[in-house]
Amino acid sequence: MPDRLAPEPVPRRDFLGLAGTAAAGLAVAGSLAGLARLPKPSVLPEASRRFRAGKPEEFTPGTVKIVQEHNVRLIGTEQGVAALSLVCTHLGCIVAESPEGFKCPCHGSKFTHEGKVTAGPAPRPLRWLAVSRAADGSLVVDKDVEVAPNQFFKA
Ligand code: FES
Repeated sequence: MPDRLAPEPVPRRDFLGLAGTAAAGLAVAGSLAGLARLPKPSVLPEASRRFRAGKPEEFTPGTVKIVQEHNVRLIGTEQGVAALSLVCTHLGCIVAESPEGFKCPCHGSKFTHEGKVTAGPAPRPLRWLAVSRAADGSLVVDKDVEVAPNQFFKA
């Protein structure tokens, strides 16, 4: 009869079986921990593509304001305010101002001041973007809404 205070030694075969079961349990727990992480988004949602550009009175005729973080150039004229995207329509580089208008540093596309293509490979003109007015009176540019060239928002 076995002594209650001195348990029988675990046979080698039983020990290996227990070790195998423990390893399988750890593998399952690790897999479940990995699955628990899947529903979380791996990237941050994109920031809003609408942004406030300032008060209408900041855009007196002749005013030019470049909003670097949005790659948009706003101009104030007698007709109102307009916004031009500075994103090249070829592969998305940011165009730089040049004496003739804009030039893309990546593959050499050239645009007029109104965004018309004068040298490729850009397939389309620069985009003119919708300008509107927010409830607080400030101007809002929506980078998702393209408007016809030379369309000005009269505040
Ligand atoms: S990205 Fe502008 S010319 Fe290629």
